[in-house]
Amino acid sequence: MVSKAKSIVVGVTGGIACYKAADLVSSLTKAGMDVHVIMTEAATKFIKPLTFQTLSNNRVIVDMFAEPDYWDVKHISLATKADLFLIAPATANFLGKAANGIADDMLTTTILATKAPIVAVPAMNNNMYLNKMVQDNIQKLKAYGFQFVEPGEGRLACGTVGKGRYPDNEVIINKVEELLNGKPQDMQGKRVLVTAGGTREPIDAVRYITNKSSGKMGYKVAAAAKARGADVTLISAPTSLEPLPGIYTIKVETAAKMHQKCLELFPQSDVIIKAAAVSDFKPNKAAENKIKKEQGLTINLEKNPDILAEMGKMKKNQILVGFAAETEELHKNALKKIHNKNLDLIVANDVSHPQAGFDVDTNIATLFFRDGKKVDLPLLTKAELGERIIEEVSKLLYDGVKGRTN
Ligand code: CTP
Repeated sequence: MVSKAKSIVVGVTGGIACYKAADLVSSLTKAGMDVHVIMTEAATKFIKPLTFQTLSNNRVIVDMFAEPDYWDVKHISLATKADLFLIAPATANFLGKAANGIADDMLTTTILATKAPIVAVPAMNNNMYLNKMVQDNIQKLKAYGFQFVEPGEGRLACGTVGKGRYPDNEVIINKVEELLNGKPQDMQGKRVLVTAGGTREPIDAVRYITNKSSGKMGYKVAAAAKARGADVTLISAPTSLEPLPGIYTIKVETAAKMHQKCLELFPQSDVIIKAAAVSDFKPNKAAENKIKKEQGLTINLEKNPDILAEMGKMKKNQILVGFAAETEELHKNALKKIHNKNLDLIVANDVSHPQAGFDVDTNIATLFFRDGKKVDLPLLTKAELGERIIEEVSKLLYDGVKGRTN
């Protein structure tokens, strides 16, 4: 099952950093979130609602008493729908009102009605920010459960230097991701390439050779990497799975196309995880038209390139992870693959086991590392195994790969 896009309400209040909130909304939308913007009247003096409407693909709300398009108590519906509220920038005025339970516009009313976590990003002149009244309001809001992204220090729009600067949107997005999925954002800035699904090798215009892969494992690995902040590209052979929000997906059919796309993206990737079941063979000549049965059918096969092995030869600093689907001598074959294909980690599973096969939601795997370390995992869902693999990849990225020769 694919996780539903997270709903996030961005409250924009009237400070000069409003224009930076436009970029924030754009990034959150691109990351696959369902973003709704509520602006205060003062914010509309700095930037037009249309900008946020275009960037979020959702109607922007400013006026609490505007005629609704359809009957829906907006401050209640957004308050209930939201997985998270993000107030960016948060002015001293907003903090003061929120700290005292004042509800005199759409934003302050909606946050009183929500049970979702609320994160505020204060941005203002440094004297205002350090003013005891503002600091007391922040403390009060913290006691009410608000979370804060601290402003940065530096030159402010008003010309002074000090604390009060709107922080980098990357820091804010990091906080949002962490709160939404409860995962550490240690893959932030890492480019992860994942392959999934079983390739199709055409015999003629209507027939092809494929395998039993459902693509589930690769999709779960991609989602797990994304949840920890990675920039993920998924090369997907045909599957019946829904696209993953926030993950750039390239659809391919054949091993040759997957090969071409993998080699193209390899140099700019930090981690490559090859969960796809690549057909080892393809018909040496695919007929353009449908072969009629009277003609008879003999298929001559030729070998496809071993994509993973080729990437192993090209490898510089990348972390390369392979899968080994075996039906016998699991350990011996997995170890052979880790060395022959120059991998850092191989996820080996016995696909003849009923709970570890191709079309089920569970897997029983053993992880083999380059240095000979081996971890036998219990029966896990593919989502859990995906998370476990990414956790190990993260350790390899940060602790270094033992036993690596290049
Ligand atoms: N793989 C690949 N290109 C191929 C075949 C496999 O990149 N032409 C990758 C798979 O994505 C997987 C790993 O190699 O990560 C192992 O795949 P598997 O089918 O288990 O092994 P093979 O290398 O095909 O070896 P064998 O058929 O002997 O088991």
